Amino acid sequence: MRIALIASESNPYCKSGGLADVVYSLAKEFNAAGHEAIIILPHYQSVQKVETKFVCMFEVTMNWRHHTACIYEAVSEGVKFYFIGEDYYFTRHNLYGYGDDGERFAFFSLAAKKFLEEIDFKPDVVHVHDWQSAIIPMLIQKEGNQSYFKKAKTVLTIHNPAFAGLLDDDSLYQLFNLVTDEEERNRIHIYDKVSTLKAGIVYSDAVTTVSPTHAKELTQGNAYEIGDALVEKGARFIGVVNGVDLDEFDPSKDDKIAETYTEKTFKKGKKACKTALFESFGLQVQDGPLFVLVSRLYEQKGIPLVLEVSHRIVERGGSLLVLGSGEFSYCQSFEELGRRYPGKVGIYVGYSQKIAHACYAGGDFFLMPSLFEPCGISQMIAQRYGCLPIARDTGGLHDTIIDHEDGFLFHDYDYGGIRFGVDEALDLYYDDPKKMEAMQVQAMKKDHSWKKSATQYLKLFDQI
Ligand code: GLC
Repeated sequence: MRIALIASESNPYCKSGGLADVVYSLAKEFNAAGHEAIIILPHYQSVQKVETKFVCMFEVTMNWRHHTACIYEAVSEGVKFYFIGEDYYFTRHNLYGYGDDGERFAFFSLAAKKFLEEIDFKPDVVHVHDWQSAIIPMLIQKEGNQSYFKKAKTVLTIHNPAFAGLLDDDSLYQLFNLVTDEEERNRIHIYDKVSTLKAGIVYSDAVTTVSPTHAKELTQGNAYEIGDALVEKGARFIGVVNGVDLDEFDPSKDDKIAETYTEKTFKKGKKACKTALFESFGLQVQDGPLFVLVSRLYEQKGIPLVLEVSHRIVERGGSLLVLGSGEFSYCQSFEELGRRYPGKVGIYVGYSQKIAHACYAGGDFFLMPSLFEPCGISQMIAQRYGCLPIARDTGGLHDTIIDHEDGFLFHDYDYGGIRFGVDEALDLYYDDPKKMEAMQVQAMKKDHSWKKSATQYLKLFDQI
């Protein structure tokens, strides 16, 4: 099959979250299974430093706007990447967060689609991701029988339903040159606005999200105003759990950690990694259980709960190290905690791959109290490093953690909930080290390979 993955981010070029891991890993797996997968991304400022080859340029019309798309190509681990360039939209400091994001990704979607026609890459499957490219299936269907893509099937994967790509009704015409009637617009409305995400749900041949439990959550009570549209898809809406890049995250050969280890040597290895981890935070190594948090610092990730429970962790002899950035007030609160509990609480504001690996390797417990979590990847990485996740029982966390076997799950999104989880972990650490070791071994042995997930995607592509 020829598969065109169209997304707003992908490793190794541009990343703000798990989406980037998924897109790249899937393309690699599709290729490994003998298919031909390409990835189409915006040519962001951060990507402009990468060495690329110019491919072609063409005009993209968005009603009265005329823009030129310049396309560049790069190859990484056998995967062909095509970058859609237009300085006006993409030469900016960040990937997203601009008032005209709707227009920027309208351009991206139109250009990505046109590009496939320009280079005559007739895909069997057009695989779009989240709101940024979700309009493409509608653009294709509205072209009807004359469409270049009339034989292609379209699949949307929802990574984060909280971002719906809301636009005014007339944007369908103003941005996408689409003429629609009221009924068509109503079908893709969320609170009286047109949603590109919902358009993707309605017009794609199949829709997926990134775990079975999240798929179930999305079809209950018209969640996010897309639930009913997903129910209508029937068997053409499924949840496929994400995997982990097993080469990148392997404690037995990871060159980013202080000492490599296996299931047999992890006690000694983790000890060395723990010392190194405290050092990288500029702190003296502490005895006792070490909790780590590697996360974007937003409410979705349950950061308020971590702040509350940190007192409990310190009271019971533990420490907490945080790696992440996001909301300024959360960073400040962790810094304040660091002053209140010197050496016991630390934060590294920002992101560093090396320190992330060091956290997984050095930590005993990994906090992940998300409010909602379509899949989550770091809990699986933590397991691979024998760092037991303490997570809220939601979405993909439910599907990837077995309570008291390879991690801990708690229910309520409040202090009582997280305190329960943390106390259980601490009891285990102090009272039953043998059981804890057994859980760590089980977590490290868990199969999180991408192959399983990619096979499910390919099966779905075959079916449609
Ligand atoms: C989003 C979700 C996360 C998921 C990731 C990749 O970031 O919030 O749960 O793992 O996408 O699918």
